[in-house]
Amino acid sequence: MKHETIADAKVEPLGGLSMNDATGNETAARGEYLKIEGLWKNFGEFTALCDIALTVGEGEFVCFLGPSGCGKTTLLRAIAGLDLQTRGAIHQAGSDISVLPPSKRDYGIVFQSYALFPNLTIEKNIAFGLENTKRSKKEIEARVADLLNIVGLPSQAKKYPAQLSGGQQQRIALARAIAINPGLLLLDEPLSALDAKVRVHLRHEIKELQRKLGVTTIMVTHDQEEALSMADRIVVMNHGVIEQVGTPTEVYRHPKTLFVADFIGETNKLPAKIGNGGKIAVGYTEFLCEKHALPAGSDAVAVIRPVDIIPHASGAISGGRPADIGNAENLIDARVEDIEFLGAFWRVRLSAARLGDHILIADFSINAVRRLNIAAGVDMQIELPRERLLVYAKEA
Ligand SMILES: Nc1ncnc2c1ncn2[C@@H]1O[C@H](COP(=O)(O)OP(=O)(O)O)[C@@H](O)[C@H]1O
Ligand SMILES: [Mg+2]
Repeated sequence: MKHETIADAKVEPLGGLSMNDATGNETAARGEYLKIEGLWKNFGEFTALCDIALTVGEGEFVCFLGPSGCGKTTLLRAIAGLDLQTRGAIHQAGSDISVLPPSKRDYGIVFQSYALFPNLTIEKNIAFGLENTKRSKKEIEARVADLLNIVGLPSQAKKYPAQLSGGQQQRIALARAIAINPGLLLLDEPLSALDAKVRVHLRHEIKELQRKLGVTTIMVTHDQEEALSMADRIVVMNHGVIEQVGTPTEVYRHPKTLFVADFIGETNKLPAKIGNGGKIAVGYTEFLCEKHALPAGSDAVAVIRPVDIIPHASGAISGGRPADIGNAENLIDARVEDIEFLGAFWRVRLSAARLGDHILIADFSINAVRRLNIAAGVDMQIELPRERLLVYAKEA
């Protein structure tokens, strides 16, 4: 059986813009397509969106990422005109669409629940949006056949939605959404209802399709891995506000807030006090840390990711410097409390007298664990690299 795939199909680009710019300045490079200014949404007393400002470049793939209830769907629905904002403006392709009804806006949308018409065949489902477009019956048939090819389901035209798997139904929903070549593709958790394997597979295919079509796309997700792997830029949201907008590497490597650091990727959080000369005190030790704007003496939180902790053999500080230490700074003695094999790496729980009571989680490569004989109960040294030791103001 031929493996069904979206990516094989030949697709005509819509925009013709090249998409090779992986910097944070995507919008500038691509030309501004969607602009949101001063957007608020209240439900009664409750503020679901608070002064949202965002621009999306033409052909860009943007993810709204944040915990459940943070306002992602509300923002997407405002862009679609399905729920009007309380205040603020939305411009698409240079026109003010702030108060246009959904039918007058230029987008295709896919929801988490596939939302296909159960009583219509697959081809009728896809043709639905094409029927009011002055196309002949023949043209519609040809377009539907094209779209079925694009989403890798050429032989399913006569079936009904219930006869397809979840993943297949979501491909059909996608075909329906792009049928009229919309300027904007809106996806609200399109993969959340699918099982893990299908989800990962479709992730790549949607991204591939989006790249080929060049269609400006906004996808809502609460899944950080999905956002990191698919988005050109990620909009991290929390409680109705945008915490940070950046490329996947920017939001992962340089989280602007403690919330972003915590939400994206895993973190160790240590209570700290800001010292002088670029130092912070954690436990009984001073460390050099990444640049920050916090005043000396203030309470802070020091953050380091498990993958950023570097393992070294024990005795490096007191007994001179073994070859593998080099110019390491921020070195401390630690003891392995326990160690867990997670397939691609080892997850290690470490205690360190100089950190006080705090347990550190570190992810060490299989290689490092073998080379340094790391095992439960073993003493070792760990390095907290200065540029990976991030500092934030203590949460109120
Ligand atoms: N129609 C509505 N009436 C009242 N509150 C709503 C309505 N829609 C959403 N909300 C609230 O607004 C907040 C944001 O919801 P939503 O945008 O759906 O979150 P997300 O998509 O990020 O999970 C939630 O607290 C939700 O309960
Ligand atoms: Mg939602």
